[in-house]
Amino acid sequence: MRGPDFYQMRGVAVMARAMVLETSTKDSPEGNLPGRILRSSMEAVRRPLDKAVTLPTRAYTSEEFFRHEVDKVFMRSWLHVGRASQVPNPYDFFTITRFDERIIVVRDKDGVLHALSATCRHRGFPVADGSGNCSKTRGFVCPYHGWAYRADGSLAAAPFMQKGFDASASRLPEFGIDVWQGFIFINFDAAAPKLSPQLKTVDKVMDPFNLSAMGSGPLRRLDWPGNWKAMLDNFTEAYHQPLIHSKTFEPMSPARLAVYEDIDGPYNLYWLPSANGEPFPTLYPPIKGLPERLASSFLVVNIFPYFHMFIDASCIISLDMDIRSANDLRGIWDVHVPAEVAAAPDFEEKTTTFMKLLMPIFDEDEGACREVRYGQRSRFAEQGAFSWMEKSVHQLHSWLADRYLD
Ligand code: FES
Ligand SMILES: [Fe+2]
Repeated sequence: MRGPDFYQMRGVAVMARAMVLETSTKDSPEGNLPGRILRSSMEAVRRPLDKAVTLPTRAYTSEEFFRHEVDKVFMRSWLHVGRASQVPNPYDFFTITRFDERIIVVRDKDGVLHALSATCRHRGFPVADGSGNCSKTRGFVCPYHGWAYRADGSLAAAPFMQKGFDASASRLPEFGIDVWQGFIFINFDAAAPKLSPQLKTVDKVMDPFNLSAMGSGPLRRLDWPGNWKAMLDNFTEAYHQPLIHSKTFEPMSPARLAVYEDIDGPYNLYWLPSANGEPFPTLYPPIKGLPERLASSFLVVNIFPYFHMFIDASCIISLDMDIRSANDLRGIWDVHVPAEVAAAPDFEEKTTTFMKLLMPIFDEDEGACREVRYGQRSRFAEQGAFSWMEKSVHQLHSWLADRYLD
C-alpha cells in the first residue's frame, strides 16, 4: 500500500512539473510546441525504442495541437482518398472533403488523374460535389457565375469578363496525386515526392494479392469522439491482445508470435502468425498463388499517417480516416477481394457474415480506445515506455514526431 506521503510527494512533483511547463511557456515559447507541449517531450519520442516514450497525451487531446498537426502532417503527407476503380474513364470524377478542403479527383481526356481544389478562382463557390462525369467540353461549371474549368483544372470559360482578362492565370489549384496498389492518395503539397517509390518494400509483400485489380465493398462506418492516433495506435500492435481479446483473437494468433518489420519508408508492417502454424480459415475463397506465409499469418500494414490495412489470405480490410478535429474521427472500413469474388451474387451476404464475425473484436478494440481517451485527458497522464511489441507504434510516433518538430 502506498501511504498518504506518497500521494503528497507525487502531488508536489506534479505541481512542480506543471510550474516548469507554465514557466517555460512564458519564458521560452520557442521551447514549446502548440498545445503546451515541450519540444523535449516530443524529442524523447524519437529515441531508440528501449529509451523512447509515447507521444505526449496533449498531442491527442489538444485542439491547438491538432491545428499544428494539420499544418505539419496532413498538409504535407500522402492521404488516401479512394480507389482508382471509382474513376475508370476519362471525365469520371468524385469529390471528397478532408481537413476542410474539398478535393476533386478526376480523369482528364487522356485518362490522366488529377486532384484539384474545388474552390472556384472567382469567389470561392465549390465547383463540384458528389461524383459522376464532368462535361467533355466545359468540365466543371461553377454554379455561381458560370466559370468553367476543364478536367485538368484550367479555365475553359468565364462569362461576361472584360477584354484583357487572362483566363490562363486562373486555374484550380492542383495537388499531388499517386496511385498505389489501386488506392488513390493525394498530397496537398504538390511538390512532395511521389508515394509509390517509397513503398517498394511493401510491394514485395503485397504484390501477390494483385490488389489493383480487386473489387471493394463497404464494411462499416465508425464515428468516434476521440483522437485518430489512439485508434491507430491500437491497431498497430498485438501487445493488447492477451487482455483485450483474450477469448476472441488471441487464441487464434498469440501476440508473442507477432513479427514487427524494420521499415524504410512512410509505413509500418507486422505479421500475426496463426497459433499452430496452419493456414487460417477464411470466409471468402483463399486467393490463389499466395506465398505460404500469407496463408498462415495475418498481415498488418499502415501507410502513414493514417491508412490502415488488415490482411488475410482471402481479403484486405482497410480503415480510412476522415479526421475532423483532435476529438472527432469518422472512420470507413472497406473490404477488398478479387474482382470475381466481389462480383459474385453472395458477396454482400458474405460481407455481412464477415462483419458479424469481426464485430466482437471491433467492440473490444473500441472499448479499449474509449478508456484510453478518458485516461489521456487526465492532468496526471504521462508519456509511457514502449514494449518491444510496440515497435510499429514507435515507428509511427517517431515519424509523426519528426514532422511535429520540423
Ligand atoms: S464563384 Fe465561381 S464563378 Fe463566381
Ligand atoms: Fe485489437
